[in-house]
This record gives sequence, C-alpha cells and structure tokens, in this order.
Amino acid sequence: MANDQEKEAAARASLRFIKDGQVVGLGTGSTAAHFIRLLGEQVRNGLRIRGIPTSVRSKELALSLGIPLATLDECQEIAVTVDGADEVDPQLRLIKGGGGALLREKIVASATRQLVIVADATKRVPVLGKFPLPVEVIQFAQTLVAKRIASLGAEVRLRTENGKPYVTDENNHILDCHFGEIPDADGLARQLSDMPGVVEHGLFIGMASTVLFARGSEIVELHR
Ligand code: A5P
Repeated sequence: MANDQEKEAAARASLRFIKDGQVVGLGTGSTAAHFIRLLGEQVRNGLRIRGIPTSVRSKELALSLGIPLATLDECQEIAVTVDGADEVDPQLRLIKGGGGALLREKIVASATRQLVIVADATKRVPVLGKFPLPVEVIQFAQTLVAKRIASLGAEVRLRTENGKPYVTDENNHILDCHFGEIPDADGLARQLSDMPGVVEHGLFIGMASTVLFARGSEIVELHR
C-alpha cells in the first residue's frame, strides 16, 4: 500500500533526530508504530534510549521490541517525541486523536523539547477541520458537552467500537466533532479547554517543531 510505504518513509526520516542517551516520546497510530519498530532495530544495534509511550498500545509494541521504557513520574523532560497526526496546517497546528490517544499524546508533547510529526502527504491541509476533531470527555458529561460543541457548529458523534462507546486509556469517551472547516483553531481550542467535562481536545497548537511529510520517496521537512 503506497500510503503505508510513505508512513514508513516519514518514520524512517525521523530517526536522525534521536541521539544516544535521550529520553524519547513514543507516539501512537500506524505511522508512530513504524517509528517504534525502526527504533527497536536501532536499540538492538546498540542505541541507548529510554522511551515514554503515549498509549497502552505503543507501550506493548515497545516492550515487545525490547525498547527500555521510563514513566513520566521518573522523567518529566523528554528530548524528542515522534508522533503522527491526522491533519497539519501551514502553521504546523495539528489535529490528533484519530487513534484515540490524544490525552497522553498531548501530555507527553507538552513535556517534550522537540516534537517531530511524521505523516504521509495526505495529512497536509490548508485549513484544519475536514478530519473530525476528537474531543475526550468525562463519561458523566458527554451529552452536555456534545450539545455545547454542536452549538459551535459541529456535527458531533460519540465514537464507538464494536457497537459500544470507545473507551480511552484513561477511561473516558471520545466525541468526534465534524466542523468541516475550523477558521479560528486557536479560538476553538480555548473554547473547548474552557468547557467543563472536556478532558482534552485534539487541537495541538504551538507544539510541533518539525513535520516530516513523505510523498513517494521524497521527504518534505517543515519547521516552526
Ligand atoms: C493517535 O491518537 C493519533 O493522534 C495518531 O497520531 C493520528 O491519528 C495519526 O494516525 P496514523 O499515523 O495512523 O495516520
């Protein structure tokens, strides 16, 4: 699948940001999984790093590859995190959380000096919002929050898996909010953060320092 090869190519290009001795944030999703597998190869070849995973899924993958792990309790300063994204705009603002891990992803990103985003070129957009914005909510408040977000102009759906609400690693639910276009991402991020019941939203603003897009065999590198 061409798209998957591009994801792997972007992940491979991120390896040069990883240096011996660093603490490295391990993202979540299919592109980040390529990165974790490639990092596992480097660890087998002698690279000494400790990884902080952003989900149970990524933790299990890293453990299966023999990557030494650390927790946020042990280490609150992460040199580099490599993660995927669902959309990236020209200011390197992101939508994340398609894979349901946005809360831990944002916490790890906030403790990271250099957040490197790896993606295939389809994720590059002029304006955020075509991809439904994931919003993690406390289960108790989900209907109230869904109505409030709908009043901002979104079509809101509770994410489900096998006919049941999707449950995150922190035991919350996710509302997928279809805005179509988000003309003021900074303003929307503030509104969502101020909403009681919202645990976290998938707008990552001012966090990515580098984005690596793969298109075919070419890598486009953008910096903020
Ligand atoms: C996980 O919660 C997400 O933020 C992913 O990073 C994002 O959905 C990109 O996933 P893919 O790499 O699978 O496209």
